[in-house]
Amino acid sequence: MNGTDPPRGPSGSSMERSAAAEIVFDRATKRYPGRTVPAVDELSLTIPAGEICVLVGPSGGGKTTAMKMVNRLIDITAGDIRIDGRSVRSLDVTELRRGIGYVIQQVGLFPHMTVADNIATVPRLLGWPKGRIRERTAALLELVGLDPDEDRGRYPAELSGGQRQRVGLARAMAADPPLMLMDEPFGALDPITRERLQNEFLRLHREVQKTVIFVTHDIDEAIRIGQRIAILREGGVLAQYDTPDAILAAPADEFVARFVGADRGLKRLALRRIADVALIPVNGTPPDVLRLHAETSLRDALSLMLSEGSREALVLDEREEAAGVLTLDQLTTLLAERPPVATR
Ligand SMILES: Nc1ncnc2c1ncn2[C@@H]1O[C@H](COP(=O)(O)OP(=O)(O)OP(=O)(O)O)[C@@H](O)[C@H]1O
Ligand SMILES: [Mg+2]
Repeated sequence: MNGTDPPRGPSGSSMERSAAAEIVFDRATKRYPGRTVPAVDELSLTIPAGEICVLVGPSGGGKTTAMKMVNRLIDITAGDIRIDGRSVRSLDVTELRRGIGYVIQQVGLFPHMTVADNIATVPRLLGWPKGRIRERTAALLELVGLDPDEDRGRYPAELSGGQRQRVGLARAMAADPPLMLMDEPFGALDPITRERLQNEFLRLHREVQKTVIFVTHDIDEAIRIGQRIAILREGGVLAQYDTPDAILAAPADEFVARFVGADRGLKRLALRRIADVALIPVNGTPPDVLRLHAETSLRDALSLMLSEGSREALVLDEREEAAGVLTLDQLTTLLAERPPVATR
């Protein structure tokens, strides 16, 4: 996303002041009583302010535990977690949680409260004036794609799963927290609704630029959502922490390679569009070959060229004019390319 530092405020009593928070896991460890193996084992990673970090890994790998140590739903056994330089252990737990938006798969909306009242939960606790709460609720309903007039008075039981998920998202964002924790928020949805909410969430994130810790066990969701991905293996050990591109290009070990899948080269191509590639210029009449739009992903471009039996494609820009030629050889080279160091 952007390379500049978002404004960073002290995450003190009124956390709504800061736009986004930097999160540091510093050898954070959780050992549950009576268990020999730690659930999270000396986890160290830094999430820059305003970025989306996805925790991904097999079931039981410690993702939920790692996340819940941030808002202290689970106590840290050893090590520390810092939000903008302040240990979560040193913060008042109520204040800490009010400064963190929390979204879980089962949403946890209050069934006896309307959509608007659910969204207003934290602003009310913070003592916002009624008018401000009403404005904020309407803006959030709009933001997550619900109807500010029709949906505000409905009850959770009157909504679809996807709509409840949207209300959960709106509620988590209500007080504009500098940090959001999201645990499999789209896990229970059908693939189409899920993809739509993923896209809407990414669009929202571009607007609000919060720091987000997002848990999923689905590597495709991790690649789509994450600016950085932390892969946890059994025993809560960090296997790799990097950008999706870097992980797909160079998995740290056998475990990561298996987890991201044998098609990791294709997944990597899916991250980029033809527009990101230096095309071969067209001199004179454009060749009469397969035509592709510059917005097409490289993965789709490869797939189309293979299915058309075409070794090259003419790329069209948004005005339907020839922007250059893309060849199969270029795609093959890109598949083998190492990631740039320090991508973001
Ligand atoms: N309250 C608890 N008491 C004891 N052990 C626990 C407790 N909660 C979780 N564990 C154990 O800690 C490990 C990590 O659990 P955690 O819920 O963090 O995994 P996860 O990565 O979120 O898994 P999933 O993808 O299934 O949600 C597991 O082995 C689990 O059995
Ligand atoms: Mg979990």
